[in-house]
Amino acid sequence: MKDHSMPRVVISGTGLFQPAQVITNAELVASFNAFADLQNAAHADEIAAGMRVPLVHSSVEFIEKASGIQQRYVLDKSGVLDPTRMRPKFAPRPDGELSLMAEIAVDAAKKAMAAAGKQGRDIDGVLCAAANMQRAYPAMACEIQAAIGAGGYGFDMNVACSSATFAIEQAANAIKSGSATCVLVVNPEITSAHLEWRDRDCHFIFGDVCTAVIVEAADTATSADQWEVLGTKLVTQFSNNIRNNAGFLNRCEDTDPDARDKTFMQEGRKVFKEVVPMAAAHIEQHLHTLGFEPTQVRRYWLHQANLGMNQLVLKKLVGREVGDDIAPIILSEYANTASAGSIIAFHAHHADLKARDLGVICSFGAGYSIGSVVLRRV
Ligand code: COA
Repeated sequence: MKDHSMPRVVISGTGLFQPAQVITNAELVASFNAFADLQNAAHADEIAAGMRVPLVHSSVEFIEKASGIQQRYVLDKSGVLDPTRMRPKFAPRPDGELSLMAEIAVDAAKKAMAAAGKQGRDIDGVLCAAANMQRAYPAMACEIQAAIGAGGYGFDMNVACSSATFAIEQAANAIKSGSATCVLVVNPEITSAHLEWRDRDCHFIFGDVCTAVIVEAADTATSADQWEVLGTKLVTQFSNNIRNNAGFLNRCEDTDPDARDKTFMQEGRKVFKEVVPMAAAHIEQHLHTLGFEPTQVRRYWLHQANLGMNQLVLKKLVGREVGDDIAPIILSEYANTASAGSIIAFHAHHADLKARDLGVICSFGAGYSIGSVVLRRV
């Protein structure tokens, strides 16, 4: 039953920061192969003695066929592509300067605020939700809150690739309960820094980006582009199949900070098999609790990790193959951008929908974690 005592909640604006630098699959593979050749030459004796397995070349054909990814945006291309480095190079900043994560967050936030017609003073909650945080504290959200002149409160939250959808639920609940009226959800995803560019199995997966969403009470919204949040649904189920062991205990454990387990690791095939049925069932159940069938949804803005994965989720949901019009794919251009992927899809592909059209944003990722947001165009 609808509770009329609770304020209705809308998404009234989105923003996207996209780095200027692009790495194509061809550039990425050339750099990986140069790195593999250097490593193999450096360890030629061990390889010849059978004590070490040589590194094998990567291939553009494999990447495109297995994932659907064609390129990715990154904040620092030269560091990633340098076969003697294989990670981005960022200059450390003094504490008095805006942090890198906050910088891209403020860019996306200002675009979302402009789209929603909001000033900093209108915002009374800032959720910085991303798969990685630049530091332990103070919260990135507090720095972003100060930089945009927002009031209220801010906090960081990490639910890996589901950080954005989980944050939209927190924002919607804060508005419904009256603890906030207008919340900025911002997702600065500098995934190039957690990706292991030296691992052929995953070196092609991620890209950098930042998304921002304004979530507010319908009563205060003035934007011409509003989406009512009809419902949110979150679920988690523990799995080690996507894991990163970097953390504040590392130095006390006397482990190597550059060891393989201190960056992104996954069992990609297991993730694919286990998450597809979970995500399809989750979305179906969510829609049913709101009285809708999956076929009534005009557009699905799904998590962007793998083209085949999204096609299978949709096939289970609507019983047939669907194209970009029902479920737009942005990962060919952006790669996997962790929690930002489904939000980029929404940001780039909602303008053509009509009033009262239904849409679903759904993320899936480490945890496992799945979050869905059912929207109706106002
Ligand atoms: N270039 C060429 N060949 C490669 C390669 C590369 N870069 N990486 C792996 N291969 C090879 C493997 O060695 C393997 O060879 P083999 O059959 O001779 O053993 C073969 O390709 C298949 O490898 P596999 O890892 O099983 O590939 P896959 O089809 O599962 O595709 C992913 C890999 C990662 C693209 C896919 O599993 C995936 O996207 N899974 C979902 C991941 C996900 O959603 N994660 C969430 C992250 S937040």
